[in-house]
Amino acid sequence: MTVPLKRSDSVVVEVALPDRAYDIVIGRDVLGSLGVRLAALRPGARTAIVTDRSVARHWLEKAEAALAQAGVATSRVIVEEGESSKSYATLEQISEALIAARIERNDLVVALGGGVVGDLVGFAAAILRRGVDFVQVPTTLLAQVDSSVGGKTGINSPQGKNLIGAFHQPVLVVADTAVLDTLPARQFRAGYAEMAKYGVLGDAAFFGWLEANHAEIFKGGTAREHAIAISCRAKAAIVARDERETGDRALLNLGHTFGHALEAATGFSDRLFHGEGVAIGMVLAAEFSATLGMIPQAEAARVKRHLAEVGLPTQLQDVAGFAQEGLADADALMALMAQDKKVRRGQVTLILLEAIGRAVIARNVEPATVRDFLQRKLANGK
Ligand SMILES: NC(=O)c1ccc[n+]([C@@H]2O[C@H](COP(=O)([O-])OP(=O)(O)OC[C@H]3O[C@@H](n4cnc5c(N)ncnc54)[C@H](O)[C@@H]3O)[C@@H](O)[C@H]2O)c1
Ligand SMILES: [Zn+2]
Repeated sequence: MTVPLKRSDSVVVEVALPDRAYDIVIGRDVLGSLGVRLAALRPGARTAIVTDRSVARHWLEKAEAALAQAGVATSRVIVEEGESSKSYATLEQISEALIAARIERNDLVVALGGGVVGDLVGFAAAILRRGVDFVQVPTTLLAQVDSSVGGKTGINSPQGKNLIGAFHQPVLVVADTAVLDTLPARQFRAGYAEMAKYGVLGDAAFFGWLEANHAEIFKGGTAREHAIAISCRAKAAIVARDERETGDRALLNLGHTFGHALEAATGFSDRLFHGEGVAIGMVLAAEFSATLGMIPQAEAARVKRHLAEVGLPTQLQDVAGFAQEGLADADALMALMAQDKKVRRGQVTLILLEAIGRAVIARNVEPATVRDFLQRKLANGK
């Protein structure tokens, strides 16, 4: 399915799902090849690009020009940016717009944006006419290394995040690393936390490489492409093994149980981006593993040092407004963790470390042990 490229430096990673295998194409300026790729994938199909206001300002014209050049018919749907768009209201807006644009079963919906657009548009595609194919064109680092791959789509309910959704795999992912040049630095850093996660959970050599090469990744250039490709390969391998998260895919939740509690405590606001919560959560998971004697303290310190070096928050005290209600209280954090779907019948499931590069699913963690650990972190940060 891979179309020959004019540039030689793009990388293709395959997500090897039976019946639904697809490519992730990664490279600088690959957005320019979007039209040729869609024309080859689905000759004669109509397309609709769905994006948010901010991404539209920077990248919609380039995407549309690429489609026009290859003679691919397209229309545009623009939604407000931000997490609040993962809502019933915006889903309705998109669904009605796609019907009005006459997108039918053999056509393609293109999600151009970060994880919000990807999740929302993927879900809209999953339910439009009982399912139309869609293409991910991720424009944030988080979306390129994580959310655009693996087929989890959905919206938020007023009762919680991602509660309404479906598994719906894209038919192609086109990750242009140049679009990240317009991404605000804080957003880029937040995505970097998910990238580092792949090293910490399953690839010690990659983690070491990130320690040496992170500056180049932030600057752009081939180190960025390489790191995104390694991350996608890691996610693709896990998804191919366990699409529906009945086993190994849970390893990708490293740092997320703690992280979600912090996100909830800060009201899913700009006080803490998702990736920032994951960074703190990953350090807590490493430190908790050390507390249990699973890894040496020095290994946990190494995880923390690297994330701090790129400017990510690494401890509870780094969260804006930390001293306010909720956050500085171990019981409140435990209550928020208990709302997470990873808590069953009084036992917490956490992803812990046996080494940097070797994460395990720990299903029967005693809540009291976690609580004492958090209490200690809150008291002295150590
Ligand atoms: N489906 C999954 O497997 C999965 C995994 C992780 C996260 N997610 C979801 O992803 C969402 C977060 O995604 P995100 O961090 O990409 O946030 P986002 O989509 O909200 O994007 C962040 C901000 O950056 C802007 N932006 C995006 N690309 C840009 C660019 N190239 N230049 C300038 N601005 C740009 C957006 O308009 C937005 O304001 C959450 O809703 C989370 O639940 C899903
Ligand atoms: Zn995440």
